[in-house]
Amino acid sequence: MDATTLKEIEETLAQLTLEEKISLLAGKDFWRTVPLPEKQIPSIKVSDGPSGARGDTFSGGQKAAFFPSGILMGATFNPELAYETGELLSEEVRAKSASVLLAPTACCHRSPLGGRNFESYSEDPLLSGKMASGYIRGVQSRGIAATMKHFVANEQETWRLYVDETIDETTLREIYLKPFEIAMREGQPWAIMTAYNIINGVHCDSHPLTLKQVLRGEWNYEGLVMSDWFGCNSMVESLLAGLDLEMPGPARKRPIKEFVEAAEKDESVRKAIDDSARRILTLIAKVGKWKDMTPEAPEYSRNDPETGKLIRRAGGEGTVLLKNEGKTLPLQPGSLKKVAFIGPNAKATVAGGGGSANLEPNYLTQPYETFVTAIKEINGDIEVPWVQGCIIDRWVPNIDVEGGFCRVGGPDSEAGLFLEWFRGYEATGEPVATTVFKTSNAFLWDSRPTSISPSEEFSVRFSGQISVPEDGKYNISLSTITASKLYLNGELLIDNWDFKERGNLMMNVGSEEVVKTIELKKGEWYPILVHNSSIWPKDSPRDPPMEEIGALGIRLGVAPVYDNAVLIAEAADAVKDADAVVIVVGLNNEWESESYDRSDTKLPNNQDDLIEEIAKVNQNVIVVNQSGAPVDMPWAENSNVKAIVQAWYAGQEAGHVIADVLLGKQNPSGKLPLTFPIKVQDNPSYLYFPGRDQKVEYTEKLMVGYRYYDTENVQTRFPFGYGLSYSTFSIGEPSLSTAELTEGQTFTANVDVSNTSNVAGAEVVQLYVKRPASTSSIKRPVKELKGFKKVHLGTGETATANITVDDKSLGIWSTEAGKWVVEAGDYEVLIGTSSVQDELKPAGKITVKAAWSWI
Ligand code: BGC
Repeated sequence: MDATTLKEIEETLAQLTLEEKISLLAGKDFWRTVPLPEKQIPSIKVSDGPSGARGDTFSGGQKAAFFPSGILMGATFNPELAYETGELLSEEVRAKSASVLLAPTACCHRSPLGGRNFESYSEDPLLSGKMASGYIRGVQSRGIAATMKHFVANEQETWRLYVDETIDETTLREIYLKPFEIAMREGQPWAIMTAYNIINGVHCDSHPLTLKQVLRGEWNYEGLVMSDWFGCNSMVESLLAGLDLEMPGPARKRPIKEFVEAAEKDESVRKAIDDSARRILTLIAKVGKWKDMTPEAPEYSRNDPETGKLIRRAGGEGTVLLKNEGKTLPLQPGSLKKVAFIGPNAKATVAGGGGSANLEPNYLTQPYETFVTAIKEINGDIEVPWVQGCIIDRWVPNIDVEGGFCRVGGPDSEAGLFLEWFRGYEATGEPVATTVFKTSNAFLWDSRPTSISPSEEFSVRFSGQISVPEDGKYNISLSTITASKLYLNGELLIDNWDFKERGNLMMNVGSEEVVKTIELKKGEWYPILVHNSSIWPKDSPRDPPMEEIGALGIRLGVAPVYDNAVLIAEAADAVKDADAVVIVVGLNNEWESESYDRSDTKLPNNQDDLIEEIAKVNQNVIVVNQSGAPVDMPWAENSNVKAIVQAWYAGQEAGHVIADVLLGKQNPSGKLPLTFPIKVQDNPSYLYFPGRDQKVEYTEKLMVGYRYYDTENVQTRFPFGYGLSYSTFSIGEPSLSTAELTEGQTFTANVDVSNTSNVAGAEVVQLYVKRPASTSSIKRPVKELKGFKKVHLGTGETATANITVDDKSLGIWSTEAGKWVVEAGDYEVLIGTSSVQDELKPAGKITVKAAWSWI
């Protein structure tokens, strides 16, 4: 930042009263900082993150580009690609008139069950840190701030606001702090978001070790630290630990009057207030808003074709080909007469996981339709039947508003549901505000009209008319955060006024879904109305932050009743004579989401049965799995399952990416950024995840993911770093730039990689280090990833991959010394294209003659 702005920041700070400075230390509202117009301090706006920029409306907001999930990006092993996505993400943020993106999510996966695994990159800290750095550099290269989150050790969603994690310092530093440490150096995020959880008895927003000693102290971080939403747990402690900004606003833990009193008594508090206010002003300047008092522009959707292309390319680079017997893939349309598409995700638009990473996408694509379109372009003759096969809805699906089955007032009216806000519980009289909702999933925690205070009685009516495509039995469902009743045809159908149980819907605060089954007729229009008041049913579990902000939420579902056994039998019958069957299975944003963890790793709702049954009648089965974390694949060895594609969540281009890979329009080059265990019980954290009584012990210590499977020789379904290609590659003999390492130096491994096929593709060269026997008492992994390089090669091309490792990368945290130490001894360097031990080539030894240490 230039010297003039720095000087102006100091001058402005000097002019602020204590009250004004304190007012800056909490948000103005859900997504904005507090402005002080008379001092020329504007409000800046923040937006989630990480798969796009959602803007200031949690549900039903402006459309935005939906980027691939973090886990898919992790599988690309390509930080420069993360940089490119970051550049375009910054344009998305601007289109939402925001200056700060609440991303990337960069915590390491501890268990395959973690609900937010899909958002983050890997079970490996180096890969996570490098990918996060690329993302941050890209976003910030165009003047938008990135917010690396959640600092730190946010590996589970169960009891996420108050789970107390026991983690030893070596593990905390070497695994969970590591991605942040790397990104501090290489990405330099302008903002950091603290995690909700407690580590060793102290909440992360007030943590002296992680925030004060490590982040502010050892790493000299001068950027802004904000809390996660409602994750600021104290006034003075959090400030003194280094938390600058409580989010969202208005202040809950930082009320001005009490804060002033605390500051008047204590000079260190006044000093910390100055420091935090300065960091807020500095962020405003960094994002180019210094003294910019122009009113905030309305949000808009870019829907930019270049962004779509990049998302599609990233999708191909992150897709992992897990099995490909007899070169089944790519499909050769000329030799195929009939390719059947089945499975729950075949015609579904599965773009990402659930929670704050979700957004209203510009558009969505589904595998079946994009495949049909692509195949027609190549060979008009081929038959591509679709059969459902099985359904995996966890809850009754939202009403199909876009399909026109819900309109505000009968057949010819606007598609949508009419939302009216009222004072008082009764939802009668003149509405205070009205709007039309394009979805029946209305999480209303940030859209209450400002004229209604959260502490007064209020209510909404959510109404419209619904119709159905066929006569039949339908499930109608309702979940709400507060007391509600649903009327169909003017009659009370669901009484959810006094509910007692909460479920996972609406970030874990929605009631358990109540379902009623009724007959509906095609061609009829049925008036539907939900009356939802702000009353918290007295016997339901409380949620103080949601109560305080007056959160409402309504989710309405309507869908035909189904029987998976019948659907599987129908599919098996239909695919007997197909030349190939593509089964698209997986999870979606109901099964994987912020706010809750998965309970197991099985593919839900009979999907394994579907695959087994299809493999009994057809010998050319291709399974495409969409998930953001490992799922069990008990059919992986079935000889009729010829190919398996791990497609993750590829955002708005998910359908195109799958079709591209199936047809060879893109050569998949993803590698697994995590291990697929045979079963979840094999995972080292299994017995201690998610813990008990709101406490969890990280008992496996450093043995996270492949570190454990390798060290203990536990067989996996698919190992870390593994992934096939349509190309074939050969790896030459690796060599090292030096045989000895001293403090401040680096070493480089060089290896030739050749594409020995006639298909262009990319290979990921991975460098693992086996360290000498350690003096530290903690059990150490047999090897660890210390570097990687993705090499794109045309047919017959050869390139040299150079992977440089710095001196610090060999350090281990010594609890005894309270320092990082590079121990003396011989370090073996191994090079390969996956973590599989037998396939790695020795590059040589690096000798450290004398140990050194640092803090
Ligand atoms: C999430 C954050 C997110 C914030 C705002 C929280 O629940 O943990 O990642 O940025 O909400 O939506």
